[in-house]
Amino acid sequence: MKKTKIGVVGVSGRMGQEIVKVIEANPRCELFYPLHRDEKWDSKKAAKVDVWIDFSSPEALKDVLKRAAEHKTPVVCGTTGFSKKEKDLLSQYAKKIPVLWSSNMSLGVAVLNEALKSLSAISHFDFQIEELHHNRKKDKPSGTAITLQENLEKAVQKKLPEPVAIRGGGIFGVHKIYSMSDEEVLVFEHTALNRTVFAKGAVQAAEWLVKQKPGLYQIRDVLFGKNKA
Ligand SMILES: NC(=O)c1ccc[n+]([C@@H]2O[C@H](COP(=O)([O-])OP(=O)(O)OC[C@H]3O[C@@H](n4cnc5c(N)ncnc54)[C@H](OP(=O)(O)O)[C@@H]3O)[C@@H](O)[C@H]2O)c1
Repeated sequence: MKKTKIGVVGVSGRMGQEIVKVIEANPRCELFYPLHRDEKWDSKKAAKVDVWIDFSSPEALKDVLKRAAEHKTPVVCGTTGFSKKEKDLLSQYAKKIPVLWSSNMSLGVAVLNEALKSLSAISHFDFQIEELHHNRKKDKPSGTAITLQENLEKAVQKKLPEPVAIRGGGIFGVHKIYSMSDEEVLVFEHTALNRTVFAKGAVQAAEWLVKQKPGLYQIRDVLFGKNKA
């Protein structure tokens, strides 16, 4: 069996280390190019990479996409804190290579985003998203909360109050969506129990992405197929 050769950007980071463990435990994958910050770029080695996984920082994105596009290599990116500039870059490069970006690579959050569509039936309720993360997290609110908010606003067709962000301790990630009327409160809640959940999602996405055509994908497409409900 030919193993999927994976390159990892931000390999010494918290997520990078977790991704290494998940790749090493997966018999179908090989950690082929762990790339450290400021390491000399080896284009010959990069040509042999089947797919890149990048969990680093918004500043790294341009180089990651440019280098991957040189060899038409797909990119799975989980970095958050992106502005319009980085989102435009993702769309631009997705014309040349398969690019999968998700603010949360867990399968549970992918399903949660789909479940938000059902809230259109109670769009007259009040809604509030709340998220909790560890005290080292750089972006606030989390990328996941922003994606949930975008999908929720689409479902209920109205502008909603900003997500409430709480930072403290070692929390990997909790997201809650409150739907509130005078008579009842409905809460959708997702809790990440460890960082492995994001790493496993990213590696599953990478194995899926190598078989796709150029385009911009999300983790939901791995589960539900592109543009399918
Ligand atoms: N989508 C998801 O499911 C998900 C889940 C968790 C986290 N995240 C996101 O993933 C990103 C990384 O999180 P983390 O907790 O792993 O952070 P982290 O521990 O700070 O790791 C970031 C890594 O990226 C490297 N890096 C930063 N800027 C770089 C640049 N310009 N060029 C090359 N390498 C660079 C860092 O290198 P140094 O070690 O040299 O600083 C470090 O190795 C964040 O945006 C976070 O929000 C996403």
